Amino acid sequence: MIEVRDLVKRYGATTAVDHLSFTVQPGRITGFLGPNGAGKSTTMRLILGLDRPTSGSALIEGKPYRDLPDPLRHVGALLEARAVHGGRTAFNHLLYLAQTQGVPKRRVQQVLELVGLQPVANKRTKGFSLGMSQRLGIAAALLADPRILILDEPVNGLDPEGIVWIRDLMKALAAEGRTILVSSHLMNEMAVTADHLVVVGRGRLQADMPVAQFIAQFSGSAVLVRSPQLETLRAAVAEKGWQCTPSGQEGAVVVTGTTAPELGELAAARGLVLHELTPQRASLEEAFMELTREVGQFAHRAPGQPEPADAPVPGQYAPPSGQPDAGFTAPGAPGAGAGQPRGGNDGGH
Ligand SMILES: Nc1ncnc2c1ncn2[C@@H]1O[C@H](COP(=O)(O)OP(=O)(O)O)[C@@H](O)[C@H]1O
Ligand SMILES: [Mg+2]
Repeated sequence: MIEVRDLVKRYGATTAVDHLSFTVQPGRITGFLGPNGAGKSTTMRLILGLDRPTSGSALIEGKPYRDLPDPLRHVGALLEARAVHGGRTAFNHLLYLAQTQGVPKRRVQQVLELVGLQPVANKRTKGFSLGMSQRLGIAAALLADPRILILDEPVNGLDPEGIVWIRDLMKALAAEGRTILVSSHLMNEMAVTADHLVVVGRGRLQADMPVAQFIAQFSGSAVLVRSPQLETLRAAVAEKGWQCTPSGQEGAVVVTGTTAPELGELAAARGLVLHELTPQRASLEEAFMELTREVGQFAHRAPGQPEPADAPVPGQYAPPSGQPDAGFTAPGAPGAGAGQPRGGNDGGH
C-alpha cells in the first residue's frame, strides 16, 4: 500500500503538489490522472524519496521509501525512460542493476523476454526509440519482482500494440495482488486500464474513486429529445431549470441537467408527444475536460501571483506536439500544457 498524506511540494512560487492525500491499494490498478503540469511526476518522485516534500509525507508499506529494507524488492519504478546509460547494451544495463540488487542473472533474461526486448538485448540503448526505452524501463522496474509498481506515463511513445501489451501486463500484475500506481494525462487510456482513479489538477486532489463512479459523477447527464411540440416542451424544460441546447437535428434538442426518465415523466404530465428520448453518454474525455476546466476556473491563486508559465490551458490537454499517441488524447491544441521535456516522436516498437 502507498499512503500519501497531506503532501506539499513547492518549487519557488510554483506549488507542484498542494495538500494531496490518497492511498493506493493492492490488487488493483490505480490510475493517477491529470493534465500535464498537474503534479503527477512530482508526487511520484516524492513517494520514491527522490525529492523532499515541503511538508506532509508519503509512505510505502507504512514507511518512508528511504527506511524500507531492500527498497528495490518492494518498489519498482519507471520515471524517466531515457535516464539510461546510452553506452550500455540493454542486457548489460539490466545485469548491472541486477547485480546491485542481488538479483540472479537469469532474471535479466526473464524480464527481457517479458518486455519483448530479447532481439535487441545486445544493442546499445542509445539507439533505442522511446518505446524501446519504455520497455527497458519496465524491465528494470520488474527486475527484483517488487510488490509495488510506480509507472509514470508508461504508454508514452508506445505504438498501439505496445499500449495493449502494457495494459495487459499491468492487469496481470494487479491480479497477482500487486499495488500499481500508473500516471497518465490520457483519460480514455486510463478508462480502459485503471480500476480506480486518483485525479489531480494543479497539485490538488480532484477525485479519488472507482472509474465507473467517476464517469457517472462527472460525465453529467444529457438527453436527446424529439417532439412535434418542441416549443411547449422547451418552455416546460425551462420551468424545471434544465437547459436546452441545439442537437443539430431538426425537431430535436439536447436537454442537460436531467435524465431520460425525468424528462419522459415531465412530457407525460404535460400531455406532450415524444418521438424520441435518448440518453446521451458524455465521453470520459469530456468528463475529464469538464472536471479540469472547473479546476482551472476555481483555482485559487494569491492576488498578483501570475499564472504559472507551464500551467495547463483549460480545455487543452494534448501531449507535447509530435507525440505519437495523439490518437489517444483529447482534442485540443497540440503542445498545450507542455510539462517536462520528453523524448522525441519515435514511436517505439
Ligand atoms: N524540479 C522542478 N523545479 C521547478 N518546478 C518543477 C520541478 N518539477 C516540477 N515542477 C513544476 O511543478 C509542476 C508539476 O509538474 P509535474 O509534477 O511534472 O506535473 P505532471 O507530471 O503532472 O505533468 C509544474 O508546474 C512543473 O513545472
Ligand atoms: Mg509528468
